[in-house]
Amino acid sequence: MVIPPVIAALPRFALLDGPSPLARLERFSAALGARSAAEVWIKREDLLPLAFGGNKLRNLEFLVGAALADGADSLITSGRRWSNHCRLTAAAGARAGLAVHLVLTGPPPLPGEEGPNQRLDELLGATIHVTASDDRAERAALVASIAAAEGAAGRRPYVVGIGGSGPVGAAGQVLAGLELADQLEEARIGAATVVLPSATGGTHAGLVTGLALATPPERAVIGLAVAAPSAELRRTVGGLLDALEPLTGIRVADSSVILEDDQLGAGYGHPTEAATDAARVLARTEGILVDPIYTAKALAGLVARVRDGRLTGPVVFWHAGGTPGIFERLPGTP
Ligand SMILES: Cc1ncc(COP(=O)(O)O)c(C=O)c1O
Repeated sequence: MVIPPVIAALPRFALLDGPSPLARLERFSAALGARSAAEVWIKREDLLPLAFGGNKLRNLEFLVGAALADGADSLITSGRRWSNHCRLTAAAGARAGLAVHLVLTGPPPLPGEEGPNQRLDELLGATIHVTASDDRAERAALVASIAAAEGAAGRRPYVVGIGGSGPVGAAGQVLAGLELADQLEEARIGAATVVLPSATGGTHAGLVTGLALATPPERAVIGLAVAAPSAELRRTVGGLLDALEPLTGIRVADSSVILEDDQLGAGYGHPTEAATDAARVLARTEGILVDPIYTAKALAGLVARVRDGRLTGPVVFWHAGGTPGIFERLPGTP
């Protein structure tokens, strides 16, 4: 892997211990139907080392690196109560010896009814603040007031944006794209399609850029929108592609950004029947688990496209992590 020089020069705090595995899913591929012409592979970002793993550890290598280079002694970030990014920020902060403040979307749960991610955040030593409502502006205001209070107390906080998906965090995903390109080459796979869940866009923008840097052959990335609808997400990804250009020397064309809405269902965090079915097929053929908020929806998008013949040849399912989400109580579920 040739890391672009500007990224290689960025401060980085090691959280990974090597590439995440790329593995073939033979029984899963076969279960998608005898007529299916796809060969499905899985990229196991869920096996990255800390706190149940997940793609956001890649962003956090650069974000924690930037915080330490800035002389910070704490990290502040925000998200929903089931946020994998928040849990992994708590874990990364623990590893780096930084205090972590998490601002989670309210309203606060009743005592004893905190979900698994919030309990893990606490276990990892983060200080948790829950907003009174689910209003985004309230969450942003609370982040700003905690940062101000930290500063006033003589501490130096570093604020990490939602999902860790600014250009600094997305640099970690560029390296993921380069890593995948190396693994595909080793497996002698040329053209391939990557399918991933897309929420704040950093993973998508970084991956397409990393794959484009790595060379031909043509490797497409299909993002299944799981939070914002694709039209809005496309603008976010476009902005990130602009911001990545000075870091990588390339700007992937907007026409290469494929984002689809067909698995969004009733919206972010609302389980769908297709996702539940896809999760069952993967669990029962390969013993691998996906969560209902992110990865099962992307998997459902993959399954639909393989079954109807839109996707053929090698397909890589980007298992971005999120495993504790399996145990979250989500809207519309008992
Ligand atoms: C498990 C999982 N998959 C996918 C995503 C989406 O990544 P991004 O926010 O970079 O679009 C997230 C984001 O939090 C995630 O936690």
